[in-house]
Amino acid sequence: MRYEVTEDLITGNALIDSEHRQLFDAINNLLDACAQGKGRDKIHETVTFLNSYVIKHFGDEERLQVSAKYPAYESHHTFHEGYKRNLAQVTATLEKDGPSIQALGALNQAAGVLVSHIRTEDKKLARFLKEGK
Ligand SMILES: [Fe+2]
Repeated sequence: MRYEVTEDLITGNALIDSEHRQLFDAINNLLDACAQGKGRDKIHETVTFLNSYVIKHFGDEERLQVSAKYPAYESHHTFHEGYKRNLAQVTATLEKDGPSIQALGALNQAAGVLVSHIRTEDKKLARFLKEGK
């Protein structure tokens, strides 16, 4: 399956939405590399990009939150920190063991967590940035 920013995942904040698209592209590229048996170099390259893009994106979201004095910043930040740690672990396992069923399952699970975070928390954030509530 491919991950995409469907209608229900659009937050309405142009920066956040464009970064979510890039993030999903990065996940899809990694999944493609695994599915096509691209080998360790390509998997390493896509894993590295995905982890660094997640860090960039969360950092951008948090900067927006801080400058808007977003009241739910702490919990959103805590989620981001945990997510980065989990993704790093999941992708390290994937690099170590190769694209096993388990490693791919964990990656898809991480992608699913991101999807529901976008659908709830990031939409809330975008609404606050736009309307101040
Ligand atoms: Fe977020």
